Amino acid sequence: MTRLFDPIEIRGLSIKNRLWVAPMCQYMSHTNDGKVQPWHEVNYGVLARGGAGLAMVEATGVLPEGRITPRCLGLWSDDQIAGLSRIADFAHSNGAKIGIQLNHAGRKASTYEMFPNVAAGSVPISEGGWSTIAPSAVAFDNFYEPSIATVDEMDRIVEAFRAAAARATAAGFDVIEIHSAHGYLLHELLSPISNRRDDEYGGSLENRARLHRRILRSIKADQPEAVIFVRISASEWVEDGFDVDETVKVSTWFAQDGADLIDISSGGNVPVAPIPVRPSYQVPLAQAVKANSPIPVGVAGLITQASQAESILTTGQADVICIGREALRDPQFAHKWAKELRADSNVVPAPLWRGYL
Ligand SMILES: Cc1cc2nc3c(=O)[nH]c(=O)nc-3n(C[C@H](O)[C@H](O)[C@H](O)COP(=O)(O)O)c2cc1C
Repeated sequence: MTRLFDPIEIRGLSIKNRLWVAPMCQYMSHTNDGKVQPWHEVNYGVLARGGAGLAMVEATGVLPEGRITPRCLGLWSDDQIAGLSRIADFAHSNGAKIGIQLNHAGRKASTYEMFPNVAAGSVPISEGGWSTIAPSAVAFDNFYEPSIATVDEMDRIVEAFRAAAARATAAGFDVIEIHSAHGYLLHELLSPISNRRDDEYGGSLENRARLHRRILRSIKADQPEAVIFVRISASEWVEDGFDVDETVKVSTWFAQDGADLIDISSGGNVPVAPIPVRPSYQVPLAQAVKANSPIPVGVAGLITQASQAESILTTGQADVICIGREALRDPQFAHKWAKELRADSNVVPAPLWRGYL
């Protein structure tokens, strides 16, 4: 038995291993209505049959204006449930658990998709873009200057997360992940770089984390059994940014409010930052959070090999490994890693079995 292929139980949800697929935007809702397309079904289907214990569906807008791009998935309306249900059902029929990352993109909404040969930056309103809101009127890079979110808009956003989480559960998802990383609205609130407010949502860390806590409590009140993760950029890699010490503090609060796992990432709120990109570069951040966390901690970031992932777990630096780009290159990575580590806990789906003899 390896640690990586040990099951993990989180609030009664039993997940067959600790090797998961990280959320990755596909920008393939090309009808611009946030609905699942065949691409999503195939993409998440292949990932779900690839051996990972859990696959996380990409950043999904809780409101139309909360999408990163016009082509992102959404869950602001009941008619978006059916397509996501098909993804959840297929994952379950292959023994995988499935999560969905709920997002409001704040000042980084209404951008072009990150595809080759596509312009970067804000999509003009004439091309289907929209004006953005953020904690403060501080633009990211050369994106649109956002308008300042009012307190009423904060209330609306809490309700949008609650309602989207209810729809995710109706669609059959096992896990709801709140996106507070990569420079989107909830990260913008945490960071003093993007949050210059002087009301109850700005200033102290308590205030900067207020919306997160309201969202968590509102989902929890609505769905006491929901399994909720929070993805956090635990460092902005610049002086005066939101940092790992603050991440440790807010993680403890989020656990009190009902979060079941902290998913560690970094960066995304500062256009140019000296990020020390190298294998496992976010693991020290996860380790610091795990040392103080009452709930499990996951980590992503240039983890591309079975032995590397296994040793992060056996040295106690994280509880779960999330794989991004390696899963794009090779959706069967988890089966291959199980074979390499001689794990006996992972059963390859019958139609793939002869490839693993
Ligand atoms: C194509 C692509 C899309 C991504 N979309 C998301 C996303 O929707 N939500 C998110 O939190 N992170 C997103 N990420 C970041 C990944 O989840 C992951 O944290 C990052 O790629 C680092 O892990 P890796 O080195 O294993 O790729 C994306 C990454 C890629 C490559």
